[in-house]
Amino acid sequence: MVNVFYCPVKVIYGKGCVNEHSSSIAALGTKALIVTSPSSARNGSRADVVSALEREGMGYAVFDRCENNPSLKNIDDLGNFARNSGCDLVIGVGGGSPMDCAKAASVLAVNDYSAAELFKNIYPNRPLPLVMIPTTAGTGSEMSYNSVLTVDGGKNKKSFGTPALHAKLAFLDATYTEKLPMHLARNTAVDAFAHALEGYIKPNSSAMGAVFAREVFRGFARCHDALLGDSLDFETREKLLMNAMYAGIVIAQERTLGLHAASYPLTAMFGVQHGLAVGLPLAAFVKLNYKEAKDKIDEVLSILDLSSPDELKSYIGDLLADKNTYTMSDVNNLVEASADNVIAKSNPHKFTRDDVMKMYLESLNMV
Ligand SMILES: [Fe+2]
Repeated sequence: MVNVFYCPVKVIYGKGCVNEHSSSIAALGTKALIVTSPSSARNGSRADVVSALEREGMGYAVFDRCENNPSLKNIDDLGNFARNSGCDLVIGVGGGSPMDCAKAASVLAVNDYSAAELFKNIYPNRPLPLVMIPTTAGTGSEMSYNSVLTVDGGKNKKSFGTPALHAKLAFLDATYTEKLPMHLARNTAVDAFAHALEGYIKPNSSAMGAVFAREVFRGFARCHDALLGDSLDFETREKLLMNAMYAGIVIAQERTLGLHAASYPLTAMFGVQHGLAVGLPLAAFVKLNYKEAKDKIDEVLSILDLSSPDELKSYIGDLLADKNTYTMSDVNNLVEASADNVIAKSNPHKFTRDDVMKMYLESLNMV
């Protein structure tokens, strides 16, 4: 069987990397559009980027209105801003949402598209070069070309992207994750674990993706106890940030499966943070796939020092805190919104609508 492994992102990592390697940014353009959210002004990342750009004599503009789970309206505003900015380079600074926005900005800056037209995945003009600076340790978006936006009037999420949206450069400095509240550190760590898990158990997944996935499982197991505590040391934060990047490499090769598809309406309809929305159905998703992907799942469980898929529920659940309660009508709406997407994915198990219902009922503690 022939496989392709493609990972064209230059990764520069370690404390102080943005300032030490500012010349790598200057090599990509003359005026940068910084796409971010207000949090980058608090965690030191934006100040580092601005000082790197100033040292290199580059101009810049800042769009700091990226929404969590960006809506098409938010992306249309960003598109107008990008087209008028005169920038020839986009720097995404933040968690998954600002990086998803940055991918949109790189297309919209040079193409007179509405946000909805991004899903055509055809760009008449070549998107601007992208630099990614994650400030959470979960999404791995710096390594993949996909961008996820909120659609259907806020009821679901949908992704766009082609290899033209791979970042040219990613900077990983765990300093920027130090102000992250513990619940977000936990959720994002679970998200990264899910990326590796979905990529790994996918039928016919690639051998090279598996190398990174196994490293994510080992890293997650090493960080698990620390994540249950009240704070994280710098070494653990660095490990989690690298883990997220490795997991990003996995999904860049393999894409996500039905677990992510099931998470999307939890976020879009109930505002559940992405990592939490992925973590809630994770154990039920693994159980449903266990028969068809037993060898791979057993290997993951053994790395985590667990003996059965049932133990995964508390292993992951101990890291999560969902404040919502759900009714049967909520579950019906979740199934309605996601079943077709879950079924269409390359899951090891051939999902039915009943399976999707079962997954939500188990995940949301309704059985
Ligand atoms: Fe994710």
